[in-house]
Amino acid sequence: MKVKVENISVLDVKCDLLIVNLFKGVDKPGGATLVVDKRLKGAIFNLIKSGEITGKLGETNLIHTQGCLPVTQVLVVGLGESPEFNFDKARIAIAAAVAEAKKIKAKKVATIVHGAGAGGLALPQAAQALVEGALIGGYKYEGYATKRNSEFFNVEQLIIVEAQRPKIKVIKEGVMCGTIIAESVNNARDLVNGPANRVTPTYLLAQAKKVTGVTTKAYSLQQAKALGLEAFYSVSKGSKEPAKFIIMKYGKGKPEIALVGKGVTFDAGGISLKPSKKLWEMKIDMSGAAAVLETMRAISKLGVRKNVVGILPCTENMPDGEAQKPGDVVGSLSGKTIEIISTDAEGRMVLADGITYAKKLGVKKIIDVATLTGACISALGDAASGIMGNDQKLVDQIIEAGKQSGEKLWQLPLLEEYKDYSKSDVADIKNCTESGKAGTATGGLFLQLFAENTDWVHLDIAGTAYLDKGRGYLSDGATGVMVRTLTSWLMG
Ligand code: BES
Ligand code: ZN
Ligand code: ZN
Repeated sequence: MKVKVENISVLDVKCDLLIVNLFKGVDKPGGATLVVDKRLKGAIFNLIKSGEITGKLGETNLIHTQGCLPVTQVLVVGLGESPEFNFDKARIAIAAAVAEAKKIKAKKVATIVHGAGAGGLALPQAAQALVEGALIGGYKYEGYATKRNSEFFNVEQLIIVEAQRPKIKVIKEGVMCGTIIAESVNNARDLVNGPANRVTPTYLLAQAKKVTGVTTKAYSLQQAKALGLEAFYSVSKGSKEPAKFIIMKYGKGKPEIALVGKGVTFDAGGISLKPSKKLWEMKIDMSGAAAVLETMRAISKLGVRKNVVGILPCTENMPDGEAQKPGDVVGSLSGKTIEIISTDAEGRMVLADGITYAKKLGVKKIIDVATLTGACISALGDAASGIMGNDQKLVDQIIEAGKQSGEKLWQLPLLEEYKDYSKSDVADIKNCTESGKAGTATGGLFLQLFAENTDWVHLDIAGTAYLDKGRGYLSDGATGVMVRTLTSWLMG
C-alpha cells in the first residue's frame, strides 16, 4: 500500500472509497463527515437517526454515492467515545476501515486524518498513527504457499486528503515517520512468522547487513568462544546451525545506548527438552532480535541523532551429544560463573554475554528485549509486556514511549528476596530455579547481575510477541512488538 498526501477537498478526490468518521453518541455529523453528508443528501444523518451508524470504535458503514460525489463509495468509521479517543484508537479505526476496503476490493482509497479535529490529537502524531494503523493493520504474512488465494488483495493506494494547504507539510512529516515505523514493524513480523529452517542466525545476519546507515559485523561460534562469550557458546554448541553474535552500530560517535535482543531462532529447550505440544511456536524465540534489528533500521531511516548499538546473540537451542547439560557450570564474558539448572533457561545466558559485551563498549544505557519466560505469559497474558530494571527513570521513560506507541508495559518488581532463589553452591548464580516462583523477575534478576553499574531495562515479550488470535489492528501471529516503543523512545 502506497501512502500519499493530497491538498484536495473530500468533495473532489477521485477514488474507489472515501473514509470519513463519527464519534459515538454524536447525532449530527461535523467536519469532513458533514461536508460529505450534505452531498449525500443527509444519508449519513439518516443512518445515525435510524441507529445503523452508532460511532462505536471500529464500526464501519458503507454508503454508495450514486454519482453525488466523485468517489464510488463512502465509508463511515466509528471512533468510539470522544473523551476516550487517543492515538491507539485512531490506529484501530483506520485498520477497521482498511479491512473493509480490502473486503470490497477498493484499490484506491482516500481518507481524512482521523482525530486531529474534534478528537483533539496533535496533527503530525495523528497522521503518524493513521499510517501505522493502516500499514500494520493491512499486514498479512505471505508465507511460502505456491498457490495464493484472494485474501491477498491489497489496497494499492491510500490518499490522505487535506483541504488546508498549511497543514500538508505537517501531515507529510507524520506520514513519513509512520511509514518508516510501520514498515519496520511488518519486517519484524515477517522475521518472527518465518520458519526456523529459513530464519536462521545466518539469515538474520544477512537481513542486518541490508540495513543502510548501520555498520554490521558478526562473530561465528568459534570466534565468540575465543572472545570469551562462554555463556553464549555454551547454549549454542548443541546445535549444528551456525550461530552468529551480531553487532549493529548506528551513529558517528561512541555508542551510548545498547539494544540487546534475544535471537534464539529455535528453542527446543536443549537437553531439558520442551514438550512437543505447540513446540513449533518456539520459532518465535528470536522476536527480541527481530525487534532490535528493525528498530536499528527505523532509527537509521529516521536519522535519529543518537549513537546506538544493536547486539543480537543468535543461535538455536537444541539437544545434542555436544549440548550443555543440567548441572554444568559455565563461564561468561563477565567472568561470572553460572550453574545450569535448566538448559531451557537459555535466553538469559545469551543475553548475559550480550549485556556484558555492551558494557565493554562503554554504553551508558542498556535495554534488552526477549521472549524470556513462560511465567510472563501467565502473569500478563498477551496484553502487556513485562518491564523490569535497575533505574526507575529509564523504566518510566520506556513505559511512556509504549503508551504513545500503543504497546502496553507492566512493571514487575526485582525484589531482594527473590535473589535467594538463584543462589548456587557451586557457581556465582544458578541460571534458574525449579520452584517456578516469580519466574519472570528471577529471569530479570539474573540479567541484572550482568548489567550491574549500568542503567538497564529488561523487556519480557514472551506473551506479546505472538498472538493466537488477532486483536484491534494486529492480526494473529507475530506482532513486531517493541519496534514502535524502542523507536519512539530513541526519537524522543
Ligand atoms: N523461550 C522460552 C520462553 C517462552 C515460552 C517464550 C513460551 C515464548 C512462549 C524460554 O527460553 C524458556 O524456555 N523459559 C523457561 C524458563 C524456565 C526454565 C526457568 C520457561 O519459561 O519455562
Ligand atoms: Zn528456553
Ligand atoms: Zn527461549
